[in-house]
Amino acid sequence: MKDTIRQLIQQALTQLVNEGVLPEGLTPAIQVENARDKTHGDFASNIAMMLAKPAGMKPRDLAEKIIAALPADEQISKTEIAGPGFLNFFQNTQALAGRLDAALADPKLGVSKTGAPERVVVDLSAPNLAKEMHVGHLRSTIIGDGVARVLESLGDTVIRQNHVGDWGTQFGMLLAYLQEKPATSDELSDLENFYRAAKQRFDESEEFADRARGLVVKLQAGDPECLTLWKRFNEISLSHCQKTYERLNVKLTPADVKGESAYNDDLANVVSDLKAKGLLVESNGAQCVFLEEFKTAEGTPLPVIVQKADGGYLYATTDLAAIRYRSNLLKADRALYFVDQRQALHFQQVFEVARRAGFVTNGMTMEHMGFGTMNGADGRPFKTRDGGTVKLIDLLNEAQERAYTLVKEKNPELAEDDLRNIARVVGIGAVKYADLSKHRTSDYSFNFDLMLNFEGNTAPYLLYAYTRVAGVFRKLSKDLNEVEGQISLQAPQEQDLAARLAQFGEVLNNVAEKGTPHTLCTYLYDVAGLFSSFYENCPILGADSPEQQQSRLRLAALTGRTLKQGLELLGLETLERM
Ligand code: ARG
Repeated sequence: MKDTIRQLIQQALTQLVNEGVLPEGLTPAIQVENARDKTHGDFASNIAMMLAKPAGMKPRDLAEKIIAALPADEQISKTEIAGPGFLNFFQNTQALAGRLDAALADPKLGVSKTGAPERVVVDLSAPNLAKEMHVGHLRSTIIGDGVARVLESLGDTVIRQNHVGDWGTQFGMLLAYLQEKPATSDELSDLENFYRAAKQRFDESEEFADRARGLVVKLQAGDPECLTLWKRFNEISLSHCQKTYERLNVKLTPADVKGESAYNDDLANVVSDLKAKGLLVESNGAQCVFLEEFKTAEGTPLPVIVQKADGGYLYATTDLAAIRYRSNLLKADRALYFVDQRQALHFQQVFEVARRAGFVTNGMTMEHMGFGTMNGADGRPFKTRDGGTVKLIDLLNEAQERAYTLVKEKNPELAEDDLRNIARVVGIGAVKYADLSKHRTSDYSFNFDLMLNFEGNTAPYLLYAYTRVAGVFRKLSKDLNEVEGQISLQAPQEQDLAARLAQFGEVLNNVAEKGTPHTLCTYLYDVAGLFSSFYENCPILGADSPEQQQSRLRLAALTGRTLKQGLELLGLETLERM
């Protein structure tokens, strides 16, 4: 899209620096905010206060000088000085209406990326294959998926990398068990049971445990029989994951899997290259990198261990190999890691080691998009009643069941098939939205009742808001994608809704930059709320004139399309009725 009005003001102010009206050297650059309270304008800047001192003027005097110097812009109807020297800008409603008309004519709703398209690696999901996917993998999967969709919608090339844990020592145990008790695919299909049985054997038998350890070594040395068993186990495990992704409506395919094992052949090179750079120190037989900036509270240096005394490689070694691959072969401009916040130190360390070692040759940025823990209602990490980990599939089933009961209560007359489908969309959507709408880095409490509530910032509320818009068009036998006429903004409710709708592109760019889908959730929730007051105050069916009706229908159409597009970018399906 063309720059937003906010950005235009920002540019015009920056131009005043170039022209010598304003003094230079302000960091950070000039800020213009979207105003909260519309009575004081649509955008505000405190620039006159920030620069008053270097300019040697009183803030209000500088503000007046700025206003006098700013060129007239048809998008701005007036500029005012408020309080100690704030600049308040009012947007021209006609120009705003014109922007929305243009957005309606564009399948992408006028949204585009600020800046050049980039190649972005998104590291997401990454379950460990020994077990079934449990709730611990939910956040990485759906937050990563949401951000990946937003990046793609803005024109970036997204390369999804599912860095599954397919190479740990746990495989020795699983292989030993497979060897002892050749399992059918059916038996293996319950991975949880299989893992538990293998673990039990491991704990009870010294002989078994030894064999398991031996098999890890054989596997890592490339023994063909071990590799065959290992492959079979991983295939089954990955097909489980794939089913869960489909169920979750997450855009991940087997082709996105690039597991830890994929980097095996490069691990020895990583170590020798670190050595050649003079970064390695031997400590108790292990190969370590010590970095100045990483110390314990007591000041003892924290090593990044890349090879154990027994020759084995570690999680960090694999991540270093992956960084190299992403930068040099995938040629990514950015690598985003959607991984639990508790791994923050690990990522700070490997990113820094990779930089020092010159593994990143193309200026690729590495960004850990950490997230908090999903807790139960008791505020403790989410567990089953008996303290076990919750299988993701069980959680999704329960969400759907609960949604079914709710929807049936509301619409007892709906056909069973419809009910089931609505319950699926609402149930899965509720689980995803509850997670996506929370600030990424905070912990949150998983609560079925809250997420399935039809009021508040929830999936049911937003899905329902969309069906309301769709309903208006159904009633008039009109298509939401083809409404004639022009938008004209009269009532304050029309103007408020319009101003927020015009910010869609800005919000998406922000999600793409910071990896924060919750800002998109807040935005959609606002739009739905503003639509409600518009709908109550500005009759569509009972409009005063055909022109007014068309204008309002066009606003409704843009609302509907924005909600649908926004929900889709979050990975939620929408419904035409519910
Ligand atoms: N499998 C790891 C875990 O469950 C997450 C991997 C994240 N990605 C990475 N490149 N380290 O903790």
